[in-house]
Amino acid sequence: MPQWKAQFISSPKPCEEGDPAPYFRKTFDVEPGVRHATVYVTALGVVEAHLNGSRIGDAVLAPGWTAYRERLMVAEYDVTDLLSTGPNVMGAIVGEGWAVGALTWNKSNHHYADRPALFMQLEIEYADRTEIVSTAPSSAPAKDSDWVVGPGGVRANGLYDGEVFDAQLEQVGWAAPGYDATAWWPTISYDWPMSSLRLSSVPPIRRIEELAAVEVTVSPTGYPIIDFGQNISGWVHLTLNNPRRGQDITIRHAEALKPDGALERETNRTALATDRYIAAGHEREEWEPRFTIHGFRYIEVEGWRGLPSLDDFRAVVVHSDMDRTGWFESSDAMLNRLHENAVWSMRDNFVGIPTDCPQRDERLGWTGDVNVFIASATYLYDVEAVLASWLSDLMIEQRSHGVMPRSAPLVDPRPSEPTALWGDAIVNVPWMLYQEYGRREVLRRCWPAMRAFVDEVATRLDPRGLWNTGFQYGDWADPDAPAREPGQAKTDKYLVAQAYLARTTDQMVRIAELLGEDEAREQYVELDTRVRLGFQEAYVTQRGIVKDETATGYALAICFGLLTDEQQTYAGKRLRGIIAGRGHIISSGFAGIPFVTDALTMTGHLDTAYAMLFQTQCPSFMYPVTMGATTFWERWDAILPDGHLHRTGMTSLNHYALGAISDWVRRVVGGLSSAAPGWSQIVVAPRPGGGLTTAETSHVTPLGLASVKWQIRDGEMVVTVVVPDGATARIVLPDHPEGLVATEGPGEHEWAYPLRGDH
Ligand code: BGC
Repeated sequence: MPQWKAQFISSPKPCEEGDPAPYFRKTFDVEPGVRHATVYVTALGVVEAHLNGSRIGDAVLAPGWTAYRERLMVAEYDVTDLLSTGPNVMGAIVGEGWAVGALTWNKSNHHYADRPALFMQLEIEYADRTEIVSTAPSSAPAKDSDWVVGPGGVRANGLYDGEVFDAQLEQVGWAAPGYDATAWWPTISYDWPMSSLRLSSVPPIRRIEELAAVEVTVSPTGYPIIDFGQNISGWVHLTLNNPRRGQDITIRHAEALKPDGALERETNRTALATDRYIAAGHEREEWEPRFTIHGFRYIEVEGWRGLPSLDDFRAVVVHSDMDRTGWFESSDAMLNRLHENAVWSMRDNFVGIPTDCPQRDERLGWTGDVNVFIASATYLYDVEAVLASWLSDLMIEQRSHGVMPRSAPLVDPRPSEPTALWGDAIVNVPWMLYQEYGRREVLRRCWPAMRAFVDEVATRLDPRGLWNTGFQYGDWADPDAPAREPGQAKTDKYLVAQAYLARTTDQMVRIAELLGEDEAREQYVELDTRVRLGFQEAYVTQRGIVKDETATGYALAICFGLLTDEQQTYAGKRLRGIIAGRGHIISSGFAGIPFVTDALTMTGHLDTAYAMLFQTQCPSFMYPVTMGATTFWERWDAILPDGHLHRTGMTSLNHYALGAISDWVRRVVGGLSSAAPGWSQIVVAPRPGGGLTTAETSHVTPLGLASVKWQIRDGEMVVTVVVPDGATARIVLPDHPEGLVATEGPGEHEWAYPLRGDH
């Protein structure tokens, strides 16, 4: 870490909601003979840094969101090429972002700071010395060689509400030498703990790609509406030809249209999601916001002359710049779209931290959502750095609140309680990161936090070992729960808590073993036994009937190993009966959804799992796909069969949690999974069904690319497998006449054989 000479500086005035963003600048001299120059930048707010008229780096919404008081990320950039001999200018625009702006449904702001504040430290290396130019409060009256602050085109900005940019007021050259900043005012120092500064270790949030508009329509209100064909997180880039000076363009964002073609803005709740651009009157103007972000597929444009063309707007996809690592494709277009929807919901919800949704007045790091989706997340993208950072925040919040928080960073003022699936993210998320990347550090680092959570829960168990008091989310968002009460699921919330606790205690035993924590291991073996016995006693009959007979209850009991072999077989039949009896629709919420198809597969009811996968009637896996969904929804019936939004107050069209099904799709349909931490042992075991004739999946494992492709052609099965260097694969060939199982090392392998059965 560099020695920090810089201080945080701000404008003297606190930020009111809707204030213009402060622009900061300072002039300094550079001598000939610069060898190298590095600048370190962070802010309370979101910062766009400039040097001599150029933007520094391509990160947006930097420094992202962390538990700022303890961890504030500092970006480091090589700026050698941007310096020149003589006068130079460095500067920055700081938006409100997460530190200053409105967050949560209360839209309360100033969670961390009452105004945007900037921190910049430039280190210029000459042959014989290093010179440092850094943020510091101005002398009074301020000179140009001081840091000064002034207004620019960004008139208002907020992550939820949007950005207002007045191009008439943007000062050309404000961050370059020669600009007259005598009207700008002095900066003051802003008090902030330097101990919070960390060099950033997470991939920045970036503009990842641009999508072309696919259709322009006119809303019943008369305004043009533009469809980008995909629900994304980001913003739009606009191009204006020959605008009138002062032409005022308002852009409203939404995820959906109403059946009459008007913008459906209800899913944003109180987030205004509205940008405004006021034109300068040049021949051609281009603009996009940088201090806000929206979850949207459609925009409505007010103030445009005539109808925009498809080329006037592009959608800019913005999220954490992680490497893609997982793919799936099959012979079925709907299944491919379902999988794509999970990928898109993941992209749209990994914006610095893993969030619940990108559009409404939340976008919080809910523990339960990432916990439900974690197996899909680790397959689809390299999430190691983003989630390691988020876990740090989770542990900070746990320490400062004395209990595992419901979201991290925590700004939700309601007290948290230890809960299943939300709270136990502190055990399962590190465990899954270890499984994927094979590195134990994450377990070691989170071990005290895991213990604090599990030991706290242990104190709450009754004498039978049951976790049956206190708040639980349970099988959140069960489609049979009353529309406005997603927590009122039909599966007993304490059954869900007990089942998840058994998964957690089992993981604790394994983690203690890996870390050589022998004493703790004994403690968790004992706890695990108590919890499992408790489950058996309270929730399962001798025969294997799980209390209340819900799909979620059976799925958890089967997948978490809570039944004897005989009970398991019987429970599988009952589960099959429940699913088939309801016509293969979905009757589970967050807790059950990742496990129902697995439980069916494990107990010999693959056909039922496929029937469920391909059911299109509401609520089902494919229903949203038939309704044109391009992301996973918060509830299966978020858009009702008549095309109207289900007005529940909890109707996001972009929640990845239910996209957890994509994990079963790649493991069972695609047939690729890992059998050892870090993928050193691979299992290839596709289970064709559902009328599919081909499927393929691939994954960039820590050892390299692994892939499986199976195709049915003229009664013949062809299976192609790629095993990366350093791995071995156990290959269970699907529908092989002799049930062939092979073990193969690195390289490409192919089998072709006549199919058994009735394919
Ligand atoms: C979020 C969920 C979250 C839940 C828990 C919601 O508002 O969007 O996905 O897990 O609250 O209370």
